[in-house]
Amino acid sequence: MSRTLDLAVIPGDGIGQEVVAQGLKVLQAVLPGEVKLETREYDLGARRWHRTGETLPDTELAELAEHDAILLGAIGDPTVPSGVLERGLLLRLRFAFDHFVNLRPSRLYPNTTGPLAGNPEIDFVVVREGTEGPYTGNGGSLRTGTPAEVATEVSLNTAYGVERVVRDAFARAQARPRRKLTLVHKTNVLVHAGGLWKSTFDKVAAEYPEVTTDYLHVDAATIFFVTQPERFDVIVTDNLFGDILTDLAAAVTGGIGLAASGNINPTGAFPSMFEPVHGSAPDIAGQGKADPTATVLSVALLLRHLGHDTEAARIEEAVTADLAARDGSPRTTEQIGAALAARVTA
Ligand code: NAI
Ligand code: MG
Repeated sequence: MSRTLDLAVIPGDGIGQEVVAQGLKVLQAVLPGEVKLETREYDLGARRWHRTGETLPDTELAELAEHDAILLGAIGDPTVPSGVLERGLLLRLRFAFDHFVNLRPSRLYPNTTGPLAGNPEIDFVVVREGTEGPYTGNGGSLRTGTPAEVATEVSLNTAYGVERVVRDAFARAQARPRRKLTLVHKTNVLVHAGGLWKSTFDKVAAEYPEVTTDYLHVDAATIFFVTQPERFDVIVTDNLFGDILTDLAAAVTGGIGLAASGNINPTGAFPSMFEPVHGSAPDIAGQGKADPTATVLSVALLLRHLGHDTEAARIEEAVTADLAARDGSPRTTEQIGAALAARVTA
């Protein structure tokens, strides 16, 4: 465990700015005195694009690569054409830094008001492949804008890419008490990609005799996320299925204000990036209404990734206690951040 934590911070747009400030407050509060926090803020996102036309210049990409980890708020604004920042900034970072594990835990916290509130047993984590599938930009359009337009968006799946994320998921399942791993795909229709995923999953499973395995088609998985969420422990799935399933997972647990995520490069070759699952929420931006808890929980994932397990657990306990104590009266972003910072120091 290193004695300095050198963090790149990309607050981004909308509520990203507000929630990241609280995430950093809690991080500073939880770190023991001997660990020195160094942060460098990067001005990336919609404002930068409007000002200079840049999304992520090569020089800044190279500078970002030098940090221990990246904390990101949210990127996106209605004034920027769809896809410019998503592809040019977010996806560029995930691909350039080879974030092949997109980690999204779901837990039902006390006092939350989702459709499944009261079910105490939701505690699963989705390991979403982060660098392949239909998100690689492998496609194009012909005769664009005419009645004869043709568009392709080819799903890319490599043996290398599938195996490394499946291995990561098995290792995570092995380390959890229930030791269960579910593969989610659509092997009955997407036979080529599905076949590669299934054969890879079965091959790696042979090396993990203690892990119970299961397979579900993605459509069936959406049913069980709602009707039987307790059946899941670790889930491994492709980039697109994982994107959709984790929004559903957030909705059936504490809501989008609590959903945390990590874009992880387990090899350590490049910094991993931690961010709330939600976006920039232009509808509530600048009003102090955003819940910073998802960002604070993302900070906990960041700490665990860097080996600061004790501090990560302290944050998760603080969030549990804070949620249990919520009585429904509204609190500002700042008040929630301050309450969590006080709990991790106590
Ligand atoms: P969104 O997640 O920003 O907002 C969806 C709804 O959830 C809104 O009603 C919002 O007020 C609410 N919400 C989100 N986070 C919240 C929080 N922390 N506390 C309380 N309420 C919260 O998704 P939307 O509206 O589809 O997208 C807005 C912009 O964000 C778009 O430009 C989109 O591309 C971008 N986006 C960026 C992401 C990222 O940076 N990773 C992820 C998702 C969307
Ligand atoms: Mg999404």
